[in-house]
Amino acid sequence: MSGTVKLAGVMGFPVGHSKSPQLHGFWLRKYHIKGHYLPLSVPEDQLSDAFKGLKAMGFRGCNVTIPHKQAACRLCDDLTPTARKTGAVNTVVVSETGDLTGDNTDGFGFIENITQNCRNFRFAGATVAVLGAGGAARGILVALLAAGIGEIRLLNRTRARAEILADRLGDNRIHCLDWETRSEALDGVHLLVNTTSLGMTGQPPLSLSLSALPKTAMVTDIVYAPLITPLLEMAQQQGFPMIDGLGMLLHQARPGFEAWFGHRPQVDTALRAHILGA
Ligand code: ATR
Repeated sequence: MSGTVKLAGVMGFPVGHSKSPQLHGFWLRKYHIKGHYLPLSVPEDQLSDAFKGLKAMGFRGCNVTIPHKQAACRLCDDLTPTARKTGAVNTVVVSETGDLTGDNTDGFGFIENITQNCRNFRFAGATVAVLGAGGAARGILVALLAAGIGEIRLLNRTRARAEILADRLGDNRIHCLDWETRSEALDGVHLLVNTTSLGMTGQPPLSLSLSALPKTAMVTDIVYAPLITPLLEMAQQQGFPMIDGLGMLLHQARPGFEAWFGHRPQVDTALRAHILGA
């Protein structure tokens, strides 16, 4: 089957929560591609064997999700500069010769989501406030720097973690600030991004005042469950333009789909409705 039918999947543990099979399945049907995209439940101690198995089983590649994104870096033959800088892999492509190249498309997804939803937003020279310095923040910071951002104000509850991340990226456009100053730090900001888990279903909401944020500033959240987080709801009520986090998930999937299945997919309202209804 692998000779004619293109195969890919997502490795995670657990993997049942992943929306990637529905997402890629939608595109495979839409573009009439003979292929399958499978949820692959892989425990941590089996990840190395599973990676070797990709080539052996004729897979074109896979996505990698929690908890494997960092370990995957060590298991690829090669990394893209973005994956190297981010220190995490979410997309693996198997070459004709069987080599595994690891990429990180989370930052691409983040930028594309904003670009698609706000065509006149300019990253170049803009000031951004990023809340959180965990795994999700890393890919976003790398992408913001590559997009020519002017200044990044990085605020994390554990400030030392933000400083380690800033040191690692080694770019003087990143300024770490105390978590307690997050409301005042919004003065003069063009884009506010929440990368913390606050506001996610089952988590406490993010406590923040938007009074210092310029009225034209964009507010976005990488949390997409719920789709409208308390932060986005507050932004909406106060008249700020806002973008939900679902688009980032949809856009980050595009480079992998194109590499494995040979077609550049689109993110549209039909895809959003399908994923929201799944
Ligand atoms: P992810 O990979 O999804 O980013 P993570 O690495 O666990 O997950 O990071 C979660 C982020 O949410 C971190 O920035 C975390 O702050 P700490 O580094 O101080 O842990 C932040 N976060 C989680 N719960 C929080 C809370 N109650 N208040 C403030 N920040 C919180």
